[in-house]
Amino acid sequence: MKKVVVLLLCAALVTVVGCNSSTNAEKDVLASTTAHDESEEHEEGEYELAMAMGHLQRFAGKLWFAGSQENWELSAFYAHELEEVMEEVIDHDVVDDGKNISQLMEQMALPSLEYMEEIVKAKNSSEFESAYLGLVNACNSCHAISDHGFIEIIVPSTPSITNQNYAPKKPIALEN
Ligand code: HEC
Repeated sequence: MKKVVVLLLCAALVTVVGCNSSTNAEKDVLASTTAHDESEEHEEGEYELAMAMGHLQRFAGKLWFAGSQENWELSAFYAHELEEVMEEVIDHDVVDDGKNISQLMEQMALPSLEYMEEIVKAKNSSEFESAYLGLVNACNSCHAISDHGFIEIIVPSTPSITNQNYAPKKPIALEN
């Protein structure tokens, strides 16, 4: 904000008193900050796995509330979102402390999600819970194998995001 004000002031004053030197200084600062940011990114050079995991956690939580209320349309949406995140992890060749996370994702987690997708597609409410437990188990198995067993995923008891209705929409009563 301050920078914007300074730049605007410079733009306004430049014709009168000349604000060039300070503008250049600003530019140098901006340039060096950008270069710094980029080099940091390259140094780490890695995909933000924890961000992807946060998405998995959120979508998995929502999937529970959608599926346990037999909202199959919403469940299919979250199962698909989960699949997209998993595929993204698979595509990024993520290796964490020598553990090939992408490969583990494909072998351990994707099959349990594909099973979940079948259950949702079939609107099979009696199998939903066991499919969900299979998915949670896949999360935790990979956490264990990748030395993150202290991150334990469970079946949620209350939605972490409460400003959304997870129940199926009631048919609109048509008045005539
Ligand atoms: C193929 C392995 C693998 C699978 C499958 C997996 N995770 Fe992870 N997860 C990891 C690794 C590795 C980390 C640590 C990431 C890091 O070091 O930044 C992690 C970290 C996390 C974290 C901590 C980050 C945070 O935001 O608090 C959460 C939560 C998480 N995973 C949730 C899940 C959920 C939910 C699932 C299943 C739907 C899942 N994970 C499946 C490997 C996996």
